[in-house]
Amino acid sequence: MTQIAKLKTEALELLEKASTLEEIEELKIRFLSRKGELAGLFSEIPKLDPAERKQFGQGINDLKILLTEGLEEKEATLKRSKRDLPPVDITRDPFPFRKGSVHPLSATYIEIINIFKYLGFIVVEGPEIEEDFYNFEGLNFPPDHPARDEQDSFFMQNGKLLRTHTSPVQVRVMESQEPPLAVVSPGKCYRRDTIDASHSSMFNQLEGFLVDENISVAELKGTIKYFIKELFGEKKTRFRPHFFPFTEPSMEVDVECVFCGGKGCNVCKKTGWLEIMGAGMIDPNVFIKAGLDPVKYSGFAFGMGIERIAMLRYDINDMRLFFENDIEFLDQFR
Ligand code: DAH
Repeated sequence: MTQIAKLKTEALELLEKASTLEEIEELKIRFLSRKGELAGLFSEIPKLDPAERKQFGQGINDLKILLTEGLEEKEATLKRSKRDLPPVDITRDPFPFRKGSVHPLSATYIEIINIFKYLGFIVVEGPEIEEDFYNFEGLNFPPDHPARDEQDSFFMQNGKLLRTHTSPVQVRVMESQEPPLAVVSPGKCYRRDTIDASHSSMFNQLEGFLVDENISVAELKGTIKYFIKELFGEKKTRFRPHFFPFTEPSMEVDVECVFCGGKGCNVCKKTGWLEIMGAGMIDPNVFIKAGLDPVKYSGFAFGMGIERIAMLRYDINDMRLFFENDIEFLDQFR
């Protein structure tokens, strides 16, 4: 019986230490096989005193069951850990989640705003649901101006409308703050346009204006030329006479075509120029409506379409792409 107890202690110790499937296999052979140590003990039985045989045989049997179960259990545990635990790479991202990208219109906004911020302009936003006064009246639109027609603007039952441009922010700021003012204002605008590659009933503009004493066309031209240089690089610019109710004089600003370098192509319709914004010196009537003294103050203003600039910057030929949010389109701006 001491022999059995000794073997038991030894076998259990080895089982405890075993850490590979190979070691388990060795233990099985050493203790449980037909020529193993337990079989060896069984062969001792006939030599024993008949009175001791039963107890001895029972002892070996118990040890055999104990070892068989112990080895099987350990084997199963080792097999499981081998299968379930692949090598761990602790440098991997916790989740393979998909990162979004900045929308090309937002990227364009941000770029434009940063140029003006560098010059000292601040950003002010206005409401998209606007009052007639700010959208038209305060901007010197005559009562019978075509933009006031229901065919052209979205009016609401309460007499307000969806702003047709970002210019109303000029009036709102001038009404509430004393010059000097240097403001840019980006945002959505709405018009009753049929939707095609270059028209949309919702689009984005960026308004800018500067009001102080002694501001002249020289400041307007200098500021806009600097802006164009920052955005498009060294390019020819041209200021062409135009008309807006809220500026006098008014002009449109053209930049040398960024696609053909001024030679004439399909994008610039063979003219060599791309129109990129409207601008002008703020009309004295606008100052008066906003409560500022038009003798003391002067200023310039400009407005541009964000979609148009983004289309030129990224060589996009259909405005609808900005609003459809097709993943394959957006993925290209990562
Ligand atoms: N509000 C004009 C438009 O929607 C754009 C514009 C032109 C804004 C000239 C200005 C400006 O501030 O001076 O077409």
